[in-house]
Amino acid sequence: MSAQRKDDHVRLAIEQQDTRSGINQFDEVSFVHHALAGIDRPQVSLDTTFAGISWQVPLYINAMTGGTAKTGVINRGLAIAARETGVPIASGSMHAYLKDPTCADTFRVLRQENPHGFVIANVNATASVDDTRRALDLLEADALQIHVNTAQETAMPEGDRSFGSWVPQIEKIAAAVDVPVIVKEVGNGLSRETVLLLRQLGVHAADVGGRGGTDFARIENGRRPLGDYAFLHDWGQSTAACLLDAQSAGLPVLASGGVRHPLDVARALALGASGVGASGVFLRTLLDGGPEALIEQLTNWLDQLAALQTMLGARTPADLASNDLIIHGTLRSFCTDRGIDTGRLARRSRSADTLHNATGKAQ
Ligand code: FNR
Repeated sequence: MSAQRKDDHVRLAIEQQDTRSGINQFDEVSFVHHALAGIDRPQVSLDTTFAGISWQVPLYINAMTGGTAKTGVINRGLAIAARETGVPIASGSMHAYLKDPTCADTFRVLRQENPHGFVIANVNATASVDDTRRALDLLEADALQIHVNTAQETAMPEGDRSFGSWVPQIEKIAAAVDVPVIVKEVGNGLSRETVLLLRQLGVHAADVGGRGGTDFARIENGRRPLGDYAFLHDWGQSTAACLLDAQSAGLPVLASGGVRHPLDVARALALGASGVGASGVFLRTLLDGGPEALIEQLTNWLDQLAALQTMLGARTPADLASNDLIIHGTLRSFCTDRGIDTGRLARRSRSADTLHNATGKAQ
């Protein structure tokens, strides 16, 4: 069942890449254009640091798969692309390996093909400390992701129906392992309240994993003969909304869910993310064109991100968090109701301060 589910996820996620339409709230975030903000390209770095982690790029291939022969081949392709581009990579849930070690190779390939890369192991929030250590050991992992996915489990025919143990278990794992621990949603988003709780639990970073891209409630509902959980499609908060919501939570955040191109990466960084992940888009490229196509895509994204930073005057990804942003439409309503000051975002850059001071002096 578990193996069949992994192959179903790949098939249904790719179908979503072909059919997905509707609003993506990244489109409701725009940069204020300052025509003289630009800097020289050699001044731009893509380095990012958060939670004791240093990456040379603020982009990562987020958790997807492993556990079957077919997904082992996918992991090999993802790992080759990660190695060739220096992009960090997360494994899919290692639950399959923890239950059946005979599929170890389908995960281990992530490290074998990418011996010097940054590799993240992924477990669920019911994994024991011992099992979590086994997962980390198999990949010689540099960090741990614990995924939380109540909407997916609810829509999944064979999913969990009890979530009460997750909070104490996350706290236990975070205290026990000696790599940074990232808790991630799988596409329904983390609220400010959840991020605050994660901070209290000793977690080192939160991947907000918001709505807007791959929709796991929809995928699981697609595996139900009656499709009777369609009302859970599009559940939760978008990635942009989560980033805005988490700004005051005091925990480093990563962004994933519905990231389509380098401008979305820049938007997420400007909304406070320390790194930005994507899954479905990269899977699609790999299955269409193999590792070479994914290497080309990742290289282009990094090049275009550096070009955007140059235009926006951001020497580092973190500098983007001082750029002026306008929040539009439904995302603006979300901000109003959640008490987020969009005016402050629109006037936060140094150039705006300078302008303001200059105007003040002139008066
Ligand atoms: C996923 N995702 C995922 N996440 C996780 O934490 N553990 C997992 O095992 C999986 N499995 C998985 C399989 C496939 C085929 C896809 C496409 C995705 C979720 C993923 O990490 C990410 O949170 C969502 O896909 C949203 O990002 P995108 O796809 O919109 O970029």
